[in-house]
Amino acid sequence: MAIRTLTLALVASLAFAGCAPSDAPEAVPDVAVLNNQSAVEERVEAEIASIDSLRIVQAASIQADEEVTGETFERVCKPVGIRAKQLASETGWTVRQAAVKYRNPANEASATEQVLIAQFEADPALRDLWSATPDGDRLYARRINVDASCLACHGAQESQPDFITQKYPDDRAHSFSAGIAPETLEAKVVQDADRLDAIGAIGVARCFATAGAMGSSLFDSDDPFAENRPLDDTRFAVDHFTTKLFKLPEMLNTAAARAEAEGRVDVMRRFLSDLSTEVSV
Ligand code: HEC
Repeated sequence: MAIRTLTLALVASLAFAGCAPSDAPEAVPDVAVLNNQSAVEERVEAEIASIDSLRIVQAASIQADEEVTGETFERVCKPVGIRAKQLASETGWTVRQAAVKYRNPANEASATEQVLIAQFEADPALRDLWSATPDGDRLYARRINVDASCLACHGAQESQPDFITQKYPDDRAHSFSAGIAPETLEAKVVQDADRLDAIGAIGVARCFATAGAMGSSLFDSDDPFAENRPLDDTRFAVDHFTTKLFKLPEMLNTAAARAEAEGRVDVMRRFLSDLSTEVSV
């Protein structure tokens, strides 16, 4: 059976200060402008990656026996749209979730975005890219991967939750196939790279950033390591290490990624052990 992959993208576009053609005579670009430009690029990439992981983390929190309702959406896909708007108003960037097969018509990919999405489709190893809008603004696009946990709301049309069929009669964002079984080596490597980004020092930083964005606590001050209570990663970021992050290494496709993951898991365990020392002072 051919697996139809579906590509979605998060797109941020912005005008860089100092990028417009200037009247200044020197031909050599100003180093300060270049440094500023790469700092802005780094910020764009980090912000968009954190929006992306916000959804992945929340979708993974859907329990197998949970009834998927409008309330589930309140915590899974909705915060992504809200965060994108918030980021846009904080920064002046345009931030969009673009899809060819969209659910909310506001997210329909523009002509430029369709070209980007086609690039992601053609190259499974491509995770993100810098390009330009027709107006000459800098544009950053990042692939949105579909996980098994997304299928609760983006799976077969017949099994869509009622609130979706009612609210989006013209829904096209269904019948996604999860990237759970990537077929090509490139796709496997991309999936591994995404999973590696969720663990280690970067993973710890992201996990806490997500908790901050969701308004949840970093840890339970009465019982930080859930010794006498069930794990609850919707309330405590540290619980997410155990419910999800420590399970990622065994899901990796390649031996190289598994070897890298070992070191990253050590970093996280050391972090927990340091945290334990500090909270018991
Ligand atoms: C609880 C249900 C639910 C889950 C789970 C869910 N989504 Fe969504 N998703 C929605 C709804 C509803 C919308 C429409 C939001 C709107 O009106 O702006 C949406 C919109 C989107 C959009 C914006 C483009 C569009 O079609 O409007 C993307 C991209 C997206 N989802 C990707 C994902 C991914 C990737 C996952 C898994 C990591 C996921 N979703 C999990 C319900 C869900």
